[in-house]
Amino acid sequence: MTFKNLLTKKGDGIGWITINRPDKLNAINVETIEELKTAFRDFEQDAEVRAVILTGAGEKAFVAGADISEFVHLDAELGSHFSRQGQALTRSIENYPKPVIAAVNGYALGGGTEIALACHIRLASENAKLGQPEVKLGIIPGYGGTQRLARLVGKGKAMEMILSGRLIEAREAGEVGLVNRVVPATELLSAAEALAKEIVKNAPLALAYSIEAINHGLDKTLDDGLELEAQVFGRTCATEDFKEGAKAFLEKRKPDFRGR
Ligand code: COA
Repeated sequence: MTFKNLLTKKGDGIGWITINRPDKLNAINVETIEELKTAFRDFEQDAEVRAVILTGAGEKAFVAGADISEFVHLDAELGSHFSRQGQALTRSIENYPKPVIAAVNGYALGGGTEIALACHIRLASENAKLGQPEVKLGIIPGYGGTQRLARLVGKGKAMEMILSGRLIEAREAGEVGLVNRVVPATELLSAAEALAKEIVKNAPLALAYSIEAINHGLDKTLDDGLELEAQVFGRTCATEDFKEGAKAFLEKRKPDFRGR
């Protein structure tokens, strides 16, 4: 499928989605949100794709935020609707059944940081800058930033970033755990690809169930989370891939996982 604001490709089990509005620093308009939902849905249904890498076109930006030109007419009701549209996208990425790696290749501001936060793993280039500058515009983060940032980096750092609106360099983002790893800009996509290739060797259902157990467990007490883990673990034991994985280990060969 071709898109107006995205580039997509696939290979070696990896689906690539590049947000492609470089003249607007890949700012996300409503049309791009809808295209992202479609691109993710297409890759979800494509058995050849076992992990997705999300990045931005050009050298300057991952996503410089939601498209501010679409904010101007918002009132209370339209604002909540606008927020829910973005939240639906970030929620669907967060609960996506295939691992999603954000390759943050420059500015990730506002909605850009929020989309990266929803991805399962974040790699950043050394020149990346992340932040939630919404208060400078008189609004708050609306695509999940007030909730996910605090959960990822802790309440104190999230308060500091959101209340000041200050952008942080990739190095600081790495130190506070906002990104998993920082690499030179020229190595970002190859690092993301190498990680994705490592991941896609693993059993697809075990990947999906790991994401489910981590995401849903975080909303629960430890005891309830452990019970969830035991149930999901049981489901993995009923898969063909578990039989294949254990058999391949004993036979000293590589497993041939089918996602069943
Ligand atoms: N929405 C809409 N357009 C955006 C945008 C956004 N979030 N971020 C950048 N752009 C556009 C600019 O308007 C400009 O378009 P133009 O050439 O038609 O005027 C183009 O992208 C390039 O941006 P520019 O500001 O000229 O680049 P810069 O290098 O001087 O500054 C930033 C880069 C990221 C610091 C600056 O663009 C910025 O502050 N953007 C807004 C960030 C923000 O507040 N995001 C959160 C929104 S909730």
